[in-house]
Amino acid sequence: MRLEQGQITVLKQEQAIIENSYSSLKDFIQVSFAIDFPKDISGKRILGVGEGLSEATLRLREMGAEAWAIDPKYADMKALRKGLEEDLTIFRTWLLGDQSMTDSEKYIIMRRNTNTVDSFFSPNDNANRQYHIAASACFLPFADRTFDLYFSSYAVSSFLLPSDVVFRQAIDEGLRVLRPGGELQLYPWVPNEKGDHPEERATQERLFENLQSRSIAFAVEPTSYTTPPRLKITLP
Ligand SMILES: C[S@@+](CC[C@H](N)C(=O)[O-])C[C@H]1O[C@@H](n2cnc3c(N)ncnc32)[C@H](O)[C@@H]1O
Repeated sequence: MRLEQGQITVLKQEQAIIENSYSSLKDFIQVSFAIDFPKDISGKRILGVGEGLSEATLRLREMGAEAWAIDPKYADMKALRKGLEEDLTIFRTWLLGDQSMTDSEKYIIMRRNTNTVDSFFSPNDNANRQYHIAASACFLPFADRTFDLYFSSYAVSSFLLPSDVVFRQAIDEGLRVLRPGGELQLYPWVPNEKGDHPEERATQERLFENLQSRSIAFAVEPTSYTTPPRLKITLP
């Protein structure tokens, strides 16, 4: 079943997921640790899904990619900014109380967050706002075989995996908009081996079975010793 939400279409089961999610603001360096971007980015068509206030799309465009971002929260930029500022206030309070960091480390993190918000909403970047499209992962407003790379950092695998229906439709949509040879990357991909979320594990296994039956290659790749792996799916 589909519901219209403002100007975007979402699955009925997706609505609560969107409402209960929050928008973070990873800068490009943080996203680059999570996502394996092509070495030569120039001219590549790239879609970031659930991008929130990440600056990845703007930086990818500066490097010559044809990058686009989608997020349901782009339907109301004012609400997005207000929600983010509230989240940042809570985060800063938590950060100040954290004993494991020095004051200068805390200062750097706060400065980085503030800079990213300012950059996202700055008038200079407004011209690029046309590349931030209000849409949900389950209904991508792009033609089949458009993109070389689909990536999602802390969005599709973090929020959609608990709903098998939503997650499956999001992956089908992702594969639909990828060109032959294109890649879909999700970060983080937590294998859930302890069995604390058996439904999520079953959804992960169903995805792998589905990909295998369609001869679509996939790999769970390490990102570093201290961060979780990512899932990379490569179309034939
Ligand atoms: C934690 S933020 C991640 C933002 C960014 N990718 C980053 O790495 O900083 C999660 C984002 O997922 C978005 N989201 C939630 N449900 C979604 C859905 N069904 N389709 C697309 N994006 C969704 C939220 O609006 C939110 O902006």
